[in-house]
Amino acid sequence: MSNQDELLRIEGIRKTFPGVVALDGVDFDLRRGEVHVLLGENGAGKSTLIKMLSGAYTPDAGRILVGGEETRIHGAQDSERLGIATIYQEFNLVPDLTVAENIFLGRQPRRYGMIDRKRMEADAEVLLKRVGVQVSPRARVRELGIARLQMVEIAKALSLDARVLIMDEPTAVLTSEEVDKLFRIVRKLREDGVGIVFITHHLEEIAALGDRVTVIRDGKSVGQVPAATPEDELVRLMVGRSIAQQYPRERADKGSALLTVEGLTRDGVFHDVGFEVHAGEVVGIAGLVGAGRTEVVRAVFGADRYDKGAVKVAGTALKGHDVVAAMAAGIGLIPEDRKGQGLVLDQSVEENLGLVTMRAATRAGLVDLRGQREAAARIAGQLGVRMAGLGQHVRTLSGGNQQKVVIGKWLLANTKVLILDEPTRGIDVGAKVEIYQLINELTAAGAAVLMISSDLPEVLGMSDRVLVMAQGRIAGELSADEATQDSVMALAVSNPTNDFKTGKEAARGH
Ligand SMILES: Nc1ncnc2c1ncn2[C@@H]1O[C@H](COP(=O)(O)OP(=O)(O)OP(=O)(O)O)[C@@H](O)[C@H]1O
Ligand SMILES: [Mg+2]
Repeated sequence: MSNQDELLRIEGIRKTFPGVVALDGVDFDLRRGEVHVLLGENGAGKSTLIKMLSGAYTPDAGRILVGGEETRIHGAQDSERLGIATIYQEFNLVPDLTVAENIFLGRQPRRYGMIDRKRMEADAEVLLKRVGVQVSPRARVRELGIARLQMVEIAKALSLDARVLIMDEPTAVLTSEEVDKLFRIVRKLREDGVGIVFITHHLEEIAALGDRVTVIRDGKSVGQVPAATPEDELVRLMVGRSIAQQYPRERADKGSALLTVEGLTRDGVFHDVGFEVHAGEVVGIAGLVGAGRTEVVRAVFGADRYDKGAVKVAGTALKGHDVVAAMAAGIGLIPEDRKGQGLVLDQSVEENLGLVTMRAATRAGLVDLRGQREAAARIAGQLGVRMAGLGQHVRTLSGGNQQKVVIGKWLLANTKVLILDEPTRGIDVGAKVEIYQLINELTAAGAAVLMISSDLPEVLGMSDRVLVMAQGRIAGELSADEATQDSVMALAVSNPTNDFKTGKEAARGH
């Protein structure tokens, strides 16, 4: 490699927050035309590291060299000037502005001192075309789904003509088709000589897209390996041990039906959805994004209304659109949007873990604070929540550790029917196994678990039964033995409005 190929180099970077050493001597370098993957457990320091490059944080010690010269990056402008564009784990767009306004925020083209809206929208159109996303430059960002938000973020980065593009878990919220599209864009950028820093918890993406991998553990860089390194070796480097079984499902005795859903319909959204989940069972719901999975479970939980049908817990019908009643009956929902619905960011880990139990306890007229703290400490330990202490505000936890707190909160609540919507999004491989173990414990104790996941190996690996939704209906049901990548996908792309198809027939039809 010639020195000219080196875009940036980081040497011995350190960063401490109150009570946490986030980075404890990290080395990293990036070349022209490569995808350099940053790999590490939740809380290892990946996001903190890239925030040194985007100017969000400044290091306590260590050096950053850009194009061979030592540089200080003191804010977004510095970073932008150096040709570095960052797509954060938590999106950075302004919901009430349009797509074009977001892309050109702070540098709108002007004409006679006024913002040249026409040109801005035309320029945005070109960029959006380049990333291959169909969205109007005039659409408000608030109205976009997560995948399109991601694409707008990329369009924005392209508009900066960045030499370095940093992507913090860009695929965490994308469907496999969207991931393919994203990969095509990234490969094209790499051909153009852009250097890309790529963070992901999906190991299979590393060999597919990456060139080199830097592994970070506990704030230290512990190795740099080629992207073609076998996955189990990557895991060992990352968590410091091997993981024998990625999906450790232990079947429990199947008891009576705890959750019964009958003919659930919300006009225009989902139709005639019916199924049961028994005590001891894990039922997975697979399907493409937009199939109506989240909408159905939100209605079951009482978060949204439905027009027809019934939801019963242990045989007793629930009042519709009433979360309090659903919770009192023993239903819990871990939502897909953890930031919006699952957490109070400016409260402590302990307070967040206690949110559900606290409500129950206060209703009974007493709050067992000590018991609550012990329970919180136990569950946080079990899930390996990386934190300075139970008093740390959830806002300052890493993305994956926030997700663990959402899950822990419901595990503490002693729910009879636990609904998990994309439970392991953004969770590292080691912590996933811990969550699966807790699911095993729940079902062994007689709870019923309903799990939505777009991660097909996870659905196949952890479900005792799989329901597949397509176009707002249940397109079919597969036993654990019948459920394979192919049989699930065939149902997921089927058209269940015509007639009910088995996996095989649907596959033939396509
Ligand atoms: N502003 C902050 N205040 C206090 N602690 C912080 C702050 N930002 C990060 N941390 C801590 O620094 C550590 C590293 O966090 P970071 O977000 O870099 O992890 P990560 O590797 O990106 O993890 P994930 O895979 O979960 O996204 C964590 O322990 C986190 O709680
Ligand atoms: Mg992170």
